[in-house]
Amino acid sequence: MHAYRTPLYVDDRPADGVFRVHCDVYTDPALFELEMKLIFERTWNYLALESEISNANDFVTRYIGRTPIIVSRNTKGEINAYINACRHKGATVCRLESGNSRYHVCPYHGWAYDSSGKNVDIKDRKSGAYAQAFDADNHDLIPVARVASYRGMIFGSLSADVPDLDEHLGDLKFFLDLHMEQAPQGMEVIPGRAWYSYRGNWKMQAENGNDPYHETSTHGCFVAIQERRLKGQGNVEGRQVDWKKRAAADSGTFELGNGHSSVWINCLEPEKRALYPLLDEVRSRVGDVKADWMLKQRNAFCFPNLQIADHVVPQLRVIRPIAVNHTELRSYVLAPIGEPPESRAARLRQFEDFINPCGFATPDDVAMFGESQICLGSTGLDWLQAHERGIAALPGGSRGMAEMLGINPPSAVRGEFEMQPETATHAFFREWSRRMEQGPGRKT
Ligand code: FES
Ligand SMILES: [Fe+2]
Repeated sequence: MHAYRTPLYVDDRPADGVFRVHCDVYTDPALFELEMKLIFERTWNYLALESEISNANDFVTRYIGRTPIIVSRNTKGEINAYINACRHKGATVCRLESGNSRYHVCPYHGWAYDSSGKNVDIKDRKSGAYAQAFDADNHDLIPVARVASYRGMIFGSLSADVPDLDEHLGDLKFFLDLHMEQAPQGMEVIPGRAWYSYRGNWKMQAENGNDPYHETSTHGCFVAIQERRLKGQGNVEGRQVDWKKRAAADSGTFELGNGHSSVWINCLEPEKRALYPLLDEVRSRVGDVKADWMLKQRNAFCFPNLQIADHVVPQLRVIRPIAVNHTELRSYVLAPIGEPPESRAARLRQFEDFINPCGFATPDDVAMFGESQICLGSTGLDWLQAHERGIAALPGGSRGMAEMLGINPPSAVRGEFEMQPETATHAFFREWSRRMEQGPGRKT
């Protein structure tokens, strides 16, 4: 394998008004292999919420890139994560999605591990005529090299050679706070989740969440339905947004360093936000700036595998790359722990209406990913023209606002929503380039 010279793939010259990405980044299987090694296996990946494993021996199974992971609390209540691959012959040890168990027994030949990943039994060991060398070996599940949490969100890195999680998250922490500080007792995943896959590259979802430009066309059907609902037709219980008002709303993008980014828009109808009834408590606990920003509609991306969406209700979308043209998404809705039942019901109806895989948004997005993947693999296309909208608004964009939020973004754009800038994707492709240029010989 060779390091790829990323100028072949990312043409990053904003001073000249240019930011182009080559279509091969979505279709070349060799690049996909490198991405697994140089990106997913060498940096922090989001794994789970601590509240998903609140009791001793609770566990969930997840992925870092293509590597299956068990995230678990051990009998002492400590959080740990290890690779869900048996030391005997590599079979998946735990095939459940979640549960509570002190032990995990491999279904192939019966080796058993405890909730710390320690091997506690090798089936029929005494009669096995094993040599001393076998006894001297370590048979435990391989631990994830680094595991750490921020605001109840657990991250893991397969490489030990990474900066502390705090440093990796950097200014993205402000946006994680907006998600995770919405309730005094913290946030939890609403039971149930939606998994779905699409025939497209993983980067399509990574970009799409920070792409306001597609909303009025890809989701044009939903816009039309909202207009009819405002006239009292159809499901008037669903969330009604007056899209016409949005064109002039204050909005913008932030590049947040280390590949992270965010897009935001002022919410002109805050009373329709699920958070609204809880606002007095929130304001007194987190202050006016954060409370006001929680009401804005936001999307953030935590490089490389987590979309943090709150344009309808707080949601996490976790990206699992399977192949260069095949991606799985795992979608979780968050809610305040102890939320009143009527608020919880309203939150779920909003989620189902737009974001759920059978709602009005996700099928449209997924269809577009598939259509793009087909065409990106054809001949004739080379440099995509998808990252230059808003580029002339970069100088000085959102500077004062960033200072107020206490963040220092390398670049930002601010303007009326109808600008619909595509500049938030620059952060992603800068980090993608930086890591791909390092090549397999280097580890940071
Ligand atoms: S592969 Fe797990 S016990 Fe053989
Ligand atoms: Fe969309």
